[in-house]
Amino acid sequence: MEAAFGSLFFCNPIIIVMKRYSALQLQEKINAYIAKLAYGTPNGLYEPIAYELSLGGKRIRPVLMLMAYNLYREDVDLILPQAVGLEVYHNHTLLHDDLMDKADMRRGKPTVHNIWSENTAILSGDAMLILAYRLMADCSVEKLQKVLGVFTDTTLEICEGQQYDMEFETRMDVTVDEYIEMIRLKTSVLLAAALKIGACMAGASEAEADKLYDFGVKMGLAFQLQDDFLDVYGNPEEFGKNVGGDILCNKKTFMLITALTEANEAQLAELNRWLAASDYVPEEKIEAVTRIYNEIGIGARCEKLIDEYYSQGLEMLESMSIPAADKEPLRNFVCSMMKRKV
Ligand code: IPE
Ligand code: IPE
Ligand code: MG
Ligand code: MG
Ligand code: MG
Repeated sequence: MEAAFGSLFFCNPIIIVMKRYSALQLQEKINAYIAKLAYGTPNGLYEPIAYELSLGGKRIRPVLMLMAYNLYREDVDLILPQAVGLEVYHNHTLLHDDLMDKADMRRGKPTVHNIWSENTAILSGDAMLILAYRLMADCSVEKLQKVLGVFTDTTLEICEGQQYDMEFETRMDVTVDEYIEMIRLKTSVLLAAALKIGACMAGASEAEADKLYDFGVKMGLAFQLQDDFLDVYGNPEEFGKNVGGDILCNKKTFMLITALTEANEAQLAELNRWLAASDYVPEEKIEAVTRIYNEIGIGARCEKLIDEYYSQGLEMLESMSIPAADKEPLRNFVCSMMKRKV
């Protein structure tokens, strides 16, 4: 008995517990890094960049990257340039996206093209893409090829997704499968790449990095479906964007595609009339289309699909052979992402 006690006491291996950061702690690191970014002149080019980055936002993509890294390593500060690079890239897409979507509000504030000009949104947006590349490339030579490879494939896919999104506005035969592929390209791949780059930077195996990527794709689909839902049913004060923008642009969201397939004759005629209309009062179109969605029960259908992708994503995370406690910050973060109102 004494010997057993003794061996337990003296021979127990030292267990090193790795620090796991919460989303809040990571957001603070990201925001502090962003606040220290230095810009040159002319001010007309850089002020809109500083403005967009100062508006906050959920910082989902850099948090995902740091959390994926933190599954394997503790020194998350080492990859802050890449994490912030991804956030700068995301904000670049927003400058151009708001121009393309004719959106006046973002994060509760006027959009860049609204304050400055359309040309400013284009050029400052371009500069952000280049700044993002500079930050992404600020890593060790061993990781450089991998990081830039994943990043470049992703940025090109997002352009493809945005092009489909635009083309679908004038098409009436878009299927749910086409919509899902479009949102995979315009939104999911960035969340997925964030996780993959974080894992690769930490030295995870290719197989593990790919599993995290697939988890990110599912969460990204749920996330964009949720964004489309909030564009109709969100509270603009919380959402920070004007609601009804997707309806005004004839965006072929899951909700509109489903409404077009499930509408009765009268509802279909009214939907088609609004989709073809060029001269109308915006509020009236939003109100009429939303009413038809409500009659058909489109909101609940959308929420069900969100839940399906979210559950599939969580299952993927569960199936990874990483201790459950280590995956907790990531699980909590995606859970808070899905409950978002902003
Ligand atoms: C907005 O992304 C663009 C979409 C892909 C829906 P977020 O909702 O992550 O925007 P911010 O960065 O938190 O404002
Ligand atoms: C955004 O989709 C996708 C990208 C920015 C690439 P949305 O157009 O739905 O995003 P929000 O609603 O303007 O944020
Ligand atoms: Mg938009
Ligand atoms: Mg858009
Ligand atoms: Mg949207």
